[in-house]
Amino acid sequence: MLDDAAALRQVDRADMLGVLGGLPAQVREATANGQRLRPRVRGPFRGILFTAMGGSAMGADMAALRLGQAGDVPCAVVRGYDPPAWAGRGTLVVAVSYSGNTEETLACAQAAQRRGAQVLAITSGGELASWTEQHGGDVVRVPAGLQPRAGLGHLTFATLGALETMGLAQLGKEPEAVAAHLERLRAQLEPKGPEAANPAKQLARAMHGRIPFVYGAGALEVAARRFATQLNENPKVLCHWGPVPEAHHNELSAWFADPTLREATLPVVMQGEPPGTPVGARERASMALLQEAGARPWLLEAKGDTALARVFHAIYVGDYASVYLACLLGRDPTPVEAIQKLKQRMAEFRKG
Ligand code: F6R
Repeated sequence: MLDDAAALRQVDRADMLGVLGGLPAQVREATANGQRLRPRVRGPFRGILFTAMGGSAMGADMAALRLGQAGDVPCAVVRGYDPPAWAGRGTLVVAVSYSGNTEETLACAQAAQRRGAQVLAITSGGELASWTEQHGGDVVRVPAGLQPRAGLGHLTFATLGALETMGLAQLGKEPEAVAAHLERLRAQLEPKGPEAANPAKQLARAMHGRIPFVYGAGALEVAARRFATQLNENPKVLCHWGPVPEAHHNELSAWFADPTLREATLPVVMQGEPPGTPVGARERASMALLQEAGARPWLLEAKGDTALARVFHAIYVGDYASVYLACLLGRDPTPVEAIQKLKQRMAEFRKG
């Protein structure tokens, strides 16, 4: 089925596979979009607080990861209503919400702004765009019409491009390098890449009927989380993700003790660092110990010249695999009716 383009199209009715193919173009377009900002907000900033939920929060995580590796200003990502106590005067709040209508993101940005923080919004519009403009902040608009999770390239690189205009990031040629890397990878992963040579189709096949347990160490922690959330929203399956090294200190015990796990689950170990490094050693230890425990872990190799490229590599394999799994399960990957329903029901629950 996975090599039958017509069969894939029949399930993937809103063409999530086509949208995935556009990720390298998103990276290029979004960087230029962010870099066009002429900022109104004024530093110096002592801290950057990203506020975002769900698919948009993955864009925030990616931007925070890049800043954490080569930026001078400390940053944190909040998924929820409340900014930390330190967020106020001297803080730049980067509110990332594809729709611009996510209540937690808005509430967090508004609370920090009341305490004196300045706001940069990355959004396709909604209340976030109008509120930020009214309150003297900056808005970078990303193109509308996608599922938020499918706009990861836009959200990540519009954010980074805008932060560069504020002197908070230096991107150099990295966005172009990431885009070119993803373009080369796409040739293997896209629907016309046959299953026999397509790691995403093979991974989807291996996950079919099992609960994936995804492990990412160091920077790849972000990719592990993204993979799990894409599995939740595209094929609508449960998935567990574990950050390494933390998972080595607790859940590893369960793999050794519980033989029923081996049939019901598929451990997926992401690997992106060379063996002589602490993180590289952790990645190899995960594979070796899971094998010793009797599981059959799947190795997802993340290649690329920089951490950002490697994380995007793992994300691209995971994104495609999640959509192929949706096709195997006969579930249209694009709609997320349960999330829409939740957002509507919240209005009732708020009334108490
Ligand atoms: C839908 C998706 C969701 C949303 C989340 C927040 O594709 O990925 O996780 O991202 O409900 O909404 P936004 O991104 O509009 O702030």
